[in-house]
Formats: sequence, C-alpha cells, structure tokens
Amino acid sequence: MGLLGAGGFYLASGLAFREMSEGISQDSLPRRALPPLPALANGETLRPGPVSLHLTPEGGQMGFGYNGTVPGPLFRVRRGETFEQVIENGLDDETTVHWHGLVPPPEMDGHPADPIHPGATKSVRFPVNQRAGLNWYHPHPHGHTASQVWNGLAGLFIVADEEEDALGLPGGDRELLLVLRDAEINEAGDLIYRDDITGNEGNFPLVNGVPWARTELGNVQNRLRILNGSNARVFTLTTTAPMTLIGNDGGLLDTPKLVDAIEMSPGERVDVILDLRGHRPGATVALTCSASDWRLLDIGVVEGGEDTFEMPARLSTIETLVHDGPIDREFRFEGDTTINGRLYDMNLTAFVVPFGKTERWRLNSAQGAPHPIHVHGGHFQIQSRTGGRNRLYPWEKGWKDTVLMWGGGEVIDILVRFDAYEGRYLMHCHKLEHEDHGMMMNFVVSKNPEEAERIAELERLYGPICTPPLSPLST
Ligand code: C2O
Ligand code: CU
Ligand code: CU
Repeated sequence: MGLLGAGGFYLASGLAFREMSEGISQDSLPRRALPPLPALANGETLRPGPVSLHLTPEGGQMGFGYNGTVPGPLFRVRRGETFEQVIENGLDDETTVHWHGLVPPPEMDGHPADPIHPGATKSVRFPVNQRAGLNWYHPHPHGHTASQVWNGLAGLFIVADEEEDALGLPGGDRELLLVLRDAEINEAGDLIYRDDITGNEGNFPLVNGVPWARTELGNVQNRLRILNGSNARVFTLTTTAPMTLIGNDGGLLDTPKLVDAIEMSPGERVDVILDLRGHRPGATVALTCSASDWRLLDIGVVEGGEDTFEMPARLSTIETLVHDGPIDREFRFEGDTTINGRLYDMNLTAFVVPFGKTERWRLNSAQGAPHPIHVHGGHFQIQSRTGGRNRLYPWEKGWKDTVLMWGGGEVIDILVRFDAYEGRYLMHCHKLEHEDHGMMMNFVVSKNPEEAERIAELERLYGPICTPPLSPLST
C-alpha cells in the first residue's frame, strides 16, 4: 500500500472509531492488516519504553512497548539453548520482566522485589529446558503490573523442540501468532487505563496491537497460536471452520481434539489447527469472541497450494502426575484482593513447598470470580473442577500454568510439582488488577522445607531477615 492509500485508510478508520464508541456495529469498520511480530535474537537488548500506538489516524497516542513495538518482539528458542538478554529500562517507572510459562531460576523470574529502576539494566541468562510451547513475557513490578501491561508491554516467547519438529505442523505463512486483548481510548485517542479493582475491561479488541484486524490465509490447514494478553477479559473463541486443539500453556496435548469453542482467560494460551480446506479463495472466515460478540480477526481465504499435513492420532506422551493423599494446601480467592484473608506482602514467604514433591492444591473461588490462577516456577495438571461449570475442558488437559476459575462456587484441584530450582516464586490471580491489589503470594521451593519454614516463620514475626539466597546465583 502506498502513502496515499494508507492516508485514506486512516481517515476512514478515524471516523469509524468515533462511531464505534457511540455503539455503531463493527461491521461498518475498515479492517487493519494484522502486523507480523518482529523477532529479537538471543543476546540482544530488550528495551521497555514509551511508544506511539497509532490506534487511530489522529495517531501518536502514547503507550509502552518493548523495542518500540506492541506487542514486543518475538523470541524463538530451542529446548537446550541458553536464553540471554539484557533488559534496559527506558520507562520512567520501575519495571521487571517476567517470563510467563518459562521456568527460570528465581532471580531471573522478574519478581516484584527485584525491580529494574528507570535507566538501569539487568542481564538475564537461563537455560531453556522445557517442552515446546507458546509462552510470553510481561512486566511484574509491585502494584503496577496492570497499568504497564495495559499500556502495551507484552510479547511472545516460543520454545521449539524435536518432538514438535517431528510432527511437521504447519509453519511459515501457515502459522499465525496472535496476541489477543482488549483496549479503550478516550476522545483524543489515548489509551485510557482505569484502575478498576474488579478488573479493567476495554470496549474494543486488539490483535497484535491493532484494532479490528484482518489477514489472509491459504485454503489449507493453518496453525494458530493464541495468547489472551488481556488484563481481565475472558474470551470465548469461535470460528466457522473446523478448529482442532493441539496444545495449551505447557505445550502439545497428548491427542488432538476437534472443538467448537475455546474459553481463554488472561495468561492462557492455545494452539489450534484451523482447517480452511473447505473454503474457496475469496471467502472470509472470522475468528470471533462469542462472549463479547467481537469479530476479533477476519481471515481472507486465498489459494493455499498443496497441503500434505496429516493430523497425527498422537501428538505427545505426557507424564501423569499422581497424588493419592489428602489436599496439601487450600487457597480461597476472596473478593478482589485477598487469598486466605491475606493481602500480598512482597517481602514475606506465605508458604514453603518441598522441592520435587507432587502436591495437591485446592483453589476455591470464594468471591470476585472469574479468577485466572497462575503459578510461577513450574507447571501443573488440573485434576478436577467441582461446582460452577463442574467439568474440565479439552484445553485444560496436559500441562498448565494458568487455570480459569469462574464463580458459582468453583473449586479446582491441581497437582503441582516444582523440580527445577529452589527459591522464591509467585502464585497469583492473573486478573492483573486483582494481582496488583493483593491477590498474590510468595512461596519458596526448598530441599530443606523445615529450615525454609523456620526462616519464613521468623520473617513473619520480625520482618525480612538477611539470609544467604535460597537459590545460589548462577555465575
Ligand atoms: Cu503472567 Cu506472575 O504472571
Ligand atoms: Cu508467570
Ligand atoms: Cu482474581
């Protein structure tokens, strides 16, 4: 598209925007091309800083981006490689970078007690030794995670491995990476952030940073890898072409599963094969959210060429965690701010988990749901959901790091095991306003849980004490 074309397009979209906020249907809106995600190689510098968002033609609204883009650059790392990055904080506020879904040592996890000050840098280096899958990164500063993410800070982080290679899944221009979220702008076109303790929701969608996106795909089998990067919104994804679920937070599922709809809460990821073989070039297929009635992405079907991909009956072999004993811990998520009656204390250890032991945790949606519950430092398997929806869904099989808990008394049991590193990690609600306002806990993974518990107890009584780090810093 030439300059003139782009200008004309923006004019049209500006009018549409004003109409939209007055409730005019999205069908009258010109769609904007889905931008591909820029990549960033290992060893480069990741810079959170201010960016112009250009959500409307008046353009120039300020937000935050990594290396000038929203979403931030994509990392692709193979299992067995060492991830290395320098983070340089170009914001006026403290930030951290958390690698959601990855398992770094605690001091690389972006914990809020470990901030990067404005203008400062931090080197991050850790081995990536986990299954292939779609992960992501975002800020995690104390009390300001929600506003920084809302303003644009988030990016994707893909891990690849040989098991996945062997399946010959659709790649190249048959692989779409989608960061879904919602947004809201004011009259001037600036992103508005409201610190709404019940969870901030916007009034239009962004896909890879653009409102009302469109793209083209061949009439073949395509792979869609999707993140819900919203602060608080739950999406219910539907489409008119056959959609087969192949993976989620922790990578590939054991077997593929044809689904009609997928419910995704903030932080969750899914991996699907969208089969467009039944569509002629010229047709349009939409990826929609039936909960909001938004057409998130229009897909123009084009001639796709040969398609030799055959869906395997088996995708992966997944270890099943077992635990026959009673519940090890119970967490009640109450209102918008507390877990078991307590607000987050950044400096204290709420509980200690023995290294390598499989535990059964019971998550209880006491009030204020939906709560998407997320665990750092490891993955879990969902054992049961009782009350509320009272069942488990295909995208909740295998390994997870975030699980959606609706209200209606939902109680979810998960099996979890931390066997990578000792040290301090986080468990929290991933509705970011809930997290910022206190619905979060520090826990410590330890090979010597009695000793760790003793220290935690002293800290609860007398405040943080100076002890050698539980996990030795890597040199
Ligand atoms: Cu995606 Cu603790 O966060
Ligand atoms: Cu995380
Ligand atoms: Cu919550």
